[in-house]
Amino acid sequence: MKSELKIKAIENGTVIDHITANKSLHILKILGLPDEDTINVTVAMNVSSSQTERKDIVKIENREIDHEELNQIALIAPEATINIIRDYEVAKKDKIILPEKITSIIKCTNSKCITNYENEPITSKFHVIETQPPVLRCHYCEKLIKHEDIEKQFE
Ligand code: CTP
Ligand code: ZN
Repeated sequence: MKSELKIKAIENGTVIDHITANKSLHILKILGLPDEDTINVTVAMNVSSSQTERKDIVKIENREIDHEELNQIALIAPEATINIIRDYEVAKKDKIILPEKITSIIKCTNSKCITNYENEPITSKFHVIETQPPVLRCHYCEKLIKHEDIEKQFE
């Protein structure tokens, strides 16, 4: 029987669980962490889990992550679970679901795409073609963005 690594429970905030093993640094980048204000961020990498072989966990005290951030996380860790913790209890548990269309912090890989124009750049928008692993198609130029291309942008 496998035993799970115990990390201190948090009082209020967010626990991102079942993150694809070794992808937690990408998640931190999406969330803009580390920053000056966010305290008690705990990261566990490549720990054993009963569900999947190995996983990462990120715990953030005093911050409830929003919908937009959730969508971006789905691009990296489609199996992740978001637990909102209030007063030490799991107040909300959401399995990540990639929407059909996503406005993303990632860039279209086509340098000639309208979203990459230097003047007046427009926000990139993609259609989700596959979810596990995610594959996107640019709404504007139809370029396919493969999973490796997505991950590279969070390194
Ligand atoms: N957790 C925490 N602090 C709390 C409550 C929960 O850090 N005050 C963490 C747990 O350690 C776990 C996650 O939040 O990693 C989800 O908690 P819970 O739903 O109780 O655990 P499981 O039932 O194992 O979750 P799942 O079914 O999603 O694997
Ligand atoms: Zn494009």
